[in-house]
Amino acid sequence: MVKVTDTMLRDAHQSLLATRMRTEDMLPIAPLIDEIGYWSVEMWGGATFDTCLRFLKEDPWERISKLRKVMPNTHLQMLLRGQNIVGYRHYSDDVLIKFIERAHARGIDVFRVFDALNDTRNMEMAMRTVKRLGAALEASISYTISPVHTIEGFVKLGSKLEEMGANTICIKDMAGLISPHDAYDLVKGLKEETSVPIHLHSHMTSGMALTSYLKAIEAGVDIVDTAISALSMGTSQPPTESLVAMLRGTEYDTGLDLKKLAEISEYFNEVRKKYHDFESKTTAIDTDVLIFQIPGGMMSNFATQLKEAKQEHKIHDVLEEVPRVRADLGYVPLVTPTSQIVGTQATLNVITGQRYKSCTNETKNLVRGMYGKTPAPISAEIRKKIIGDEKPITVRPADLLPPEFERLAAEVKQYARGEEDVLSYALFPQVAIDFFKEREMMEKGTNAREIAAIAALFVAQAEKRSKAKKSAQGGEVDMWKMAARRESVNGGGWIL
Ligand code: CO
Repeated sequence: MVKVTDTMLRDAHQSLLATRMRTEDMLPIAPLIDEIGYWSVEMWGGATFDTCLRFLKEDPWERISKLRKVMPNTHLQMLLRGQNIVGYRHYSDDVLIKFIERAHARGIDVFRVFDALNDTRNMEMAMRTVKRLGAALEASISYTISPVHTIEGFVKLGSKLEEMGANTICIKDMAGLISPHDAYDLVKGLKEETSVPIHLHSHMTSGMALTSYLKAIEAGVDIVDTAISALSMGTSQPPTESLVAMLRGTEYDTGLDLKKLAEISEYFNEVRKKYHDFESKTTAIDTDVLIFQIPGGMMSNFATQLKEAKQEHKIHDVLEEVPRVRADLGYVPLVTPTSQIVGTQATLNVITGQRYKSCTNETKNLVRGMYGKTPAPISAEIRKKIIGDEKPITVRPADLLPPEFERLAAEVKQYARGEEDVLSYALFPQVAIDFFKEREMMEKGTNAREIAAIAALFVAQAEKRSKAKKSAQGGEVDMWKMAARRESVNGGGWIL
């Protein structure tokens, strides 16, 4: 029997709708999701924390409690970037530990921990904390293809993660690169060398994922990640219903009810329309990922960066520069934050016309060892070009970070109402402050009434415009903003 994790509440809308789905659109269908019998439902972590604060003006912590309440029978799963938590730098151990404690207290059952460089030292503290709390620890292998990455190497990493206490091991194929035969070999190897369940996570980006899942299942994989069909395909996961139907009546039968799944899908079909403005451009097969191994999301970043520099015509040069920079930087897997580092540096190299003449701080830090050990060593020549005579560190990067929670708590004393607010501030300082200020404004009676009155007018106008507009290309109507305003209006007692 194959078990299923559905990503509809996290990776699926992160991949397809820029992570914009609001909690209010999850809650009505959550009780039905709770009836399905998934191994887990991924609903937090990754970019959800950032977008909640930055764009949705929702408290990310509350999303866990709200879903927990209506989904008492399902394991809630989050994605944690090891020492990066859900942010873009390394955080000190005390911040990391508090974050995991709070997430667990709110209701996260399964923590999927990974590190962009597969440096287990960056996963150690997170893993230990999850274990100590008695939550389910899923440790991940960031899957990538390069001359220094082999099936044997990944299997060895799997054994190490098991030794470190992993309850399950995830093959995290974030770019959807894993081919059916590699999936077979890797799962087979892991099943032979470890004794914990193996979980496969891939994306449909290159069109191979569902086939790779089938080969992985034949090799003995225990759990796979899919997304309800309305939020599947493109850069998202393969469709849950297809997998269920594919395995029906075999020894791998998932036992999931297709009729109930269809009902959930129907619901999200409607919800998705609301987020039309955020639809990813890549909804079919992404040939770039097959040829250049660069996922669609990165591709659109390049386009924007080049456009800003008025060098759009150089996109092909950048595409060729990316693998070179990646090789120079020790063949790092391309996943947040390394994907951004390599992509930006490649763009800089092309725009300036001179390789590493101008380097971002992140590139320098990567060479300094501040993100951990790279899969292959960085040559002395490249190192010198980027950081001169500086000596890279060799210790666990977080060992150099003094405790920072108390200092941060003091800094944000004026706005923070508890540890969770301090953690939000630790991760996204400016964004969190803006959020706290707006939250206060929303809550202040008179102010809220004024806002509500303006908002009511705005919403009515925006909806009129929205109806008149055939395509969303102008983008002036922001559906989630509207929803946020509607919430504030309702809170203020104004009925539209
Ligand atoms: Co993913």
